[in-house]
Amino acid sequence: MGTTIYTDGDADLRAVDGRRIAVLGYGNQGRAQALNLRDSGAGGERGTVIVGNRDDDYLSRAHEDGFPTSSLREAAAVGDVVLLLIPDEVQPAVFAEQVAPGLRAGDTLVVASGYNVAFGLLEVPDGVDVVMVAPRMIGAAVRSRFVQGAGFPCFVSVERDATGAARRTALAIARGIGGTRAGAIASSAREEAALDLFSEQAIWPAILSVLRTSYEVLHKAGFSDEAVLYEMYLSGEPAEVFTHVARDGLLGQLPLHSQTSQYGQLRALCGLDASDLAARFTSILHEDILSGAFAREWSAADAGQRLAQLRQRADAHPLSAAEQAVLRNQTRNQTRP
Ligand code: NAI
Repeated sequence: MGTTIYTDGDADLRAVDGRRIAVLGYGNQGRAQALNLRDSGAGGERGTVIVGNRDDDYLSRAHEDGFPTSSLREAAAVGDVVLLLIPDEVQPAVFAEQVAPGLRAGDTLVVASGYNVAFGLLEVPDGVDVVMVAPRMIGAAVRSRFVQGAGFPCFVSVERDATGAARRTALAIARGIGGTRAGAIASSAREEAALDLFSEQAIWPAILSVLRTSYEVLHKAGFSDEAVLYEMYLSGEPAEVFTHVARDGLLGQLPLHSQTSQYGQLRALCGLDASDLAARFTSILHEDILSGAFAREWSAADAGQRLAQLRQRADAHPLSAAEQAVLRNQTRNQTRP
């Protein structure tokens, strides 16, 4: 069965008419989504978009942008549809202390990432709908694309339907932020969180490790740091290639490269044995991610300390020092008259 993709025609903004929409957090997503919802007229005449935030610069920005503002606690209490748009790692504590006490049966909690819902880190009061409207796009582009009349990919799911209207509400919010213009993909918090974590914990570390190992091999063979780093990524060429990958596919973009390059790439790719990698990725997916082991580790009290230690360990690799020296040199050359 194919995946359901919702477009503007499937989503009716009237589903949130007369409901007060509280956007909690005014950062990357919070600002973009609040502005888009207001410009879409979400909430109708009787409803309105309000922003709840702790007392910091983000609160001032929401105020400057003309939103009624209040504390997180107050906004959660007056909101009928409550968008939780603060960083994932602070959500469990902030939600328990300041958001959950204000939620009433019939309200809707909207998350933009599946992580805390998927791993049971939010205790949502009974009778409250829980939905996910998760843009696959940075906040700045959620706003700029909306203003241009363009869309962006978005995942939508219903995690708890206490009222029987959760899907209609989720789709109305998705439409209000511009998330159904390009089609919103029916997903789940578990799927969204697992794919996000898999990308972060399997795909990107493998790419980083390939680049580090390549540096070690090439440095040892006597190639200069400048030449190696520009060849690998400092030129910006991989970013260009990935732009074409997004448009034409992994192999579809190959004709942009020389015949020599194409033959070399395909010969090496077909000769690679990726079975070790497949075993490792399978273990990461099941044992670390889907089992909840990673979420438990990252929720532990010493997680911040561990992150700092890992950062220090990663920075100790010779590639970091080489990169800093090359980048310093590049800046010096660019600023030279
Ligand atoms: P952000 O880092 O921009 O959030 C800043 C906001 O959170 C500010 O309003 C700040 O006052 C508030 N905040 C920070 N720490 C706080 C604390 N301890 N207590 C109370 N408020 C606090 O967050 P961002 O990036 O907008 O992410 C929000 C949600 O959107 C997350 O669930 C994230 O996974 C999701 N998301 C983010 C995307 C992105 O591109 N940044 C893309 C798609 C989803």
